[in-house]
Amino acid sequence: MSLDVRESVPLAPLTTLGVGGPARFFAEAGGEDAVLDAFRFAAARGVPLFVLGGGSNLLVADRGVDALVLRVRVRGLQIVGANGGDGDGQGPRLLVRAGAGERWDDLVARAVAEGWAGVECLSGIPGDVGATPIQNVGAYGQEVAETIAEVRAIDRATGATTVIAGADCGFGYRDSRFKRAWRGRYVITAVTFALRPGGAATIRYPELQRALAAPLGGAAPPLAEVRSAVIALRRGKSMVLDPADENGRSAGSFFMNPTLEAGAAAGVLSRIEAAGVLAPGEAIPQYPAGGGRVKLSAAWLIERAGFAKGTRHGAAGISTRHTLALVNRGGATAAELIELARRVRRGVLDRFGVALSAEPDLVGFAPGEIADLVGDGTGQGG
Ligand code: EPU
Repeated sequence: MSLDVRESVPLAPLTTLGVGGPARFFAEAGGEDAVLDAFRFAAARGVPLFVLGGGSNLLVADRGVDALVLRVRVRGLQIVGANGGDGDGQGPRLLVRAGAGERWDDLVARAVAEGWAGVECLSGIPGDVGATPIQNVGAYGQEVAETIAEVRAIDRATGATTVIAGADCGFGYRDSRFKRAWRGRYVITAVTFALRPGGAATIRYPELQRALAAPLGGAAPPLAEVRSAVIALRRGKSMVLDPADENGRSAGSFFMNPTLEAGAAAGVLSRIEAAGVLAPGEAIPQYPAGGGRVKLSAAWLIERAGFAKGTRHGAAGISTRHTLALVNRGGATAAELIELARRVRRGVLDRFGVALSAEPDLVGFAPGEIADLVGDGTGQGG
């Protein structure tokens, strides 16, 4: 076996939150053979296997993770083909395959530099390529579901390599089959994106549109300009990695924006109106989420439930720049972050009847420790 397995490896430095205990076993896989070695090692030791990406969407328990934690380091970025497009009038596509261990933002920077449209609004997001299909990474009007042509993965049950079409991944808002029916089944080793050479940037998100002063229906600005504008917006919300930023140690948004069924949404909206939290003439932020569902803003609900930016619990806190990010102010424990998250969730539930679900992966916890925080994002739950 060529896999170099180390014991008791601290995980906090491998995550953007910077909290949590060690991995019982830790290894890095630079190729698919090493991933298979990891399966064998985990089976022989009778421990679960946990795949670690860039660690940017992860909260590790203080006791650590009793598993083989595998960092997938499969590299490479290649053009693997082209096609005529989807008949959507947006022109031909270039198929670009990236190893799961490539940094996501390196791929975006390359695409923008080459003039390949399709991922420019996803600029400045930390983490690795291989994690993007799992939660269907999205921001500023784009999500990876729009461009993922194929996901290459190894089935943990059989060790067989398989290629899954993007259309079969069951993508939804921060959701895919990898989080549901296929949970724990595959290790993703590469992702192929269908990008639009010479294509126009996607300007859908009102805040981005304002930042670019892009005329409605007019020509879209160059991809590089969109990338810079997105990074500036993210920086303003402390959502880019920056060691000098006091809000910098976070896992991005800690909660999903709840998507409620129409009936439930109507009840919540009238409860908000009755709660007396609206300024005169103020509208409740809400967005159509497909299938008659309504997406509410978790950040807004949290603030109106009485949690101000900068609220603290020990060394854990709510970011001073964006209510949805919980941050490690230096030396925070996972227990403090969980307790703060629980208070926030309870406050929003008591006030408005909406149950928020955690957005990052919570790893190493006993199921009972986090059951209330892990939900399906529909706003339901006690
Ligand atoms: N808002 C507040 N307070 C805040 C921030 C936002 O009340 O501190 C309200 C405002 O009404 C604002 C609305 O929330 O108009 C939306 O805010 P924002 O544009 O910042 O987006 P978000 O819904 O809070 C989502 C993603 C982010 C992504 C942005 C931009 C989720 C869980 N989060 O945040 O993704 O960058 O949109 O597209 O969907 C992440 O997932 O880690 C992440 C950072």
